[in-house]
Order: sequence, then structure tokens, then C-alpha cells
Amino acid sequence: MAEVANRMQGMQQSAIRTMTARCQELGAINLAQGLCQVPPPASLLAEGGRDFGQLDHTYSPADGLAAFREAAAEKLKRHSGLSVDPETEIVTTIGATGGLMATLTALLNPGDGVLVFEPFYGYHLAALKMLELRPEPVRLVAPELEITEAALRAAITDRTRALIVCTPNNPCGRRFSEAELMIVSAVAEEHDLLVIADQVYEDIYFKPAPHLSPATVGTLGSRTLTMSSLSKSFSIPGWRLGYVCGPEELMGAVRVAADPLVGCAPTPLQELGVRALRLGDDYFSDLRAMYDAKRRTLTEGFRAAGLSPNEPEGSYYLFVDCSDLGVASGVEAAEILLQRNLIGTVPGEAFYLNPPERPYVRACFSLPDEVLADAVTRLANGR
Ligand SMILES: Cc1ncc(COP(=O)(O)O)c(C=O)c1O
Repeated sequence: MAEVANRMQGMQQSAIRTMTARCQELGAINLAQGLCQVPPPASLLAEGGRDFGQLDHTYSPADGLAAFREAAAEKLKRHSGLSVDPETEIVTTIGATGGLMATLTALLNPGDGVLVFEPFYGYHLAALKMLELRPEPVRLVAPELEITEAALRAAITDRTRALIVCTPNNPCGRRFSEAELMIVSAVAEEHDLLVIADQVYEDIYFKPAPHLSPATVGTLGSRTLTMSSLSKSFSIPGWRLGYVCGPEELMGAVRVAADPLVGCAPTPLQELGVRALRLGDDYFSDLRAMYDAKRRTLTEGFRAAGLSPNEPEGSYYLFVDCSDLGVASGVEAAEILLQRNLIGTVPGEAFYLNPPERPYVRACFSLPDEVLADAVTRLANGR
């Protein structure tokens, strides 16, 4: 009888999926899972529907169709200020998730230490555990959840080989400043770290300043692999299209690792993805305006319930301080919101290895307006 592999020790269903199941049981509104339930660009669906039979339905190269890589390189230039060679410096992946797995597999060895800023995105931690890497938490310092040099230096061990930075951040909505990323650059340089930048929310932000891609700051360009995705920017997470880019000398190994991991990203969807990547500026400003309105609606709802949501700079989550519920933990706060208000959120503890300093919950606002309006009513009623 086969046994479960050692690497699965301690791995379990995420708190987010657990909350989703409980929402279904209780008929609660699920603000827990970031499902991205907003419509994809209408033009993309219309063209895709019309042309689907004509698209390429075979395997594509392990690093993706040339046209997809070219369109991704153009978008990286336009939105992130990154110059990458589509031939040698981009690999198309099954979402940013596939990009992260290929990167970690290709460039790190079991037992290597990887710094993760907490609160972190749970899949980052899960990927590290699956590959027998060693998560090394670095606290983002409350109340602003900032990167500080002291916290970063204190977390480094003699096994540290890499660092993951996610901006705009899931779960806390921070867009790290140039000064914060300069700290990352200096420390990475000093300790010769690989830097993994997750920027899947690069197009969703609420202040005019454009996205600041970590690889454009200080000397990070020479040591950073950047994960991007079509999931959030085009509301098509089910298409599973993403890409990784970085220096040619590192991307060769990522390309080789990506092949046995997944074969290739879906070929016909890559062809359609090219059209998405080339959408004009108006599309992206409309996307931001839509999310800004949703953010305001849900923020007002939590405030009216007497709670203290943060002001996210980007991504599509609120990180809500629930101290006013008189609770000691996010777990307790999420339970009250579930039972009393029929609202599902994720306890802050799901995003930390060490207990968070406040009872946070995360609430997603990537939902239809009528669902958010219903959530606001439930938040007000439950007071
Ligand atoms: C920070 C972050 N990175 C990566 C992903 C996954 O992206 P993809 O759908 O491209 O795999 C998510 C999805 O929620 C995310 O929040």
C-alpha cells in the first residue's frame, strides 16, 4: 500500500477552501475565496467564440507560442517598464502558479531557505513546502504593513537563498514603495539572493502612480524572476495563463523545468490571450475604476459594521482589523462574521506563520455589485 509522501506532512486544505465549504453549508456570502467573479472583456469572449474552431488545438512549445511571448514582452514593457527578450527571457506557464512551481523547481534545492513576507499568499507557502524548501517569515511591520530593513535582516539565516515579494500584495493590498524595494535590493545583493516577484495584481490599483515592478528597482533586475498572469488583469483565472520572465541565464533552467511539470499552457487560449495582452489603455483604466467602486462599497460596509478595513493600494482584497469585535484572533472574528452576518472571510492567521498582531480577516471584493450590496446589508444587519 502506497504511503503519503513525506513532503505532504502538515499540508492540508487551505483555510480559504474550508471557508468556501462552510459558506455553502450556511448559505453565507463568500468573500473568502478570490474567485475573480467579474466578466472577462466582452471583445475577447466574442472573438474567441467566433474563432475557436480555427485556433491551434495541438501542443505548443513548453515555453509558449512565440506570439504569446511577444505580446507578453510588449505588455511587460508597457505596464512594468521591463525589457525582456521574448525568445530567451519569458516562459509561458499554467498561471503564475505554474510559473512559481517551475521557478522554485529549477533554481532552488530542498532545504534552501526562502524569505516570505507575512502576511503572505498561502500558495507561496504551500509551493515551498511541496518542494521541501524552508519558509523563513519576515514580518511586514504593522500598522502600515511595511518592509523594514531590521525585520528583513533579522530573518536571514545561513540557509537563506531566495526571497518572495508580492506587489500589489495579496492579502494586505500594499504596493511596495521604491524605498522598501531598495531595501530588498540591498539585502538581496549583500546575501546573493534569488528574488521572486509576484505581480499578478499589477493592473489593479487605486492611486494614479503606475505599477512599480521590483525588477526595475536598484540592482534587482539581474536577480529577479517576475511572475505575471492573465487571471486577474483580464478576469480569466480559469484559462490558466501566466508567464515568468527574468535574466536569460536563469530562464533556461525554468524553461526546461516547465516542460515535465505541465507540458505546455493551453494552446488555443494562448492564441486568444495575445488579443487580451494587446488591449488598449482604456480597458485597464476601466478595470481599475470598476475595482475602485467595488472597494469603496465593501469598505463602507465594514466601516458601518464598526470594523476597521485597511485602504488597499492595489489587488482586490480588504484586510480588516476586527479589534472592535472584542476578539483576540482573526479566527474568532471570521467565525462571528460567518455566524452573525452570514459573511465568509479568511482569518488573518491563514496568511501568517507566527500569530498576527491584530485580529485581521481578509475579504475579497472581486464579486458582482449585487453580491457586494447584499454583503453590505448583511454587515449592517448583524450589528
Ligand atoms: C498573489 C497571487 N499570486 C498568484 C495567484 C495565482 O495566479 P494564477 O491564476 O495566475 O495562477 C494568485 C491568485 O489568487 C494570487 O493572489
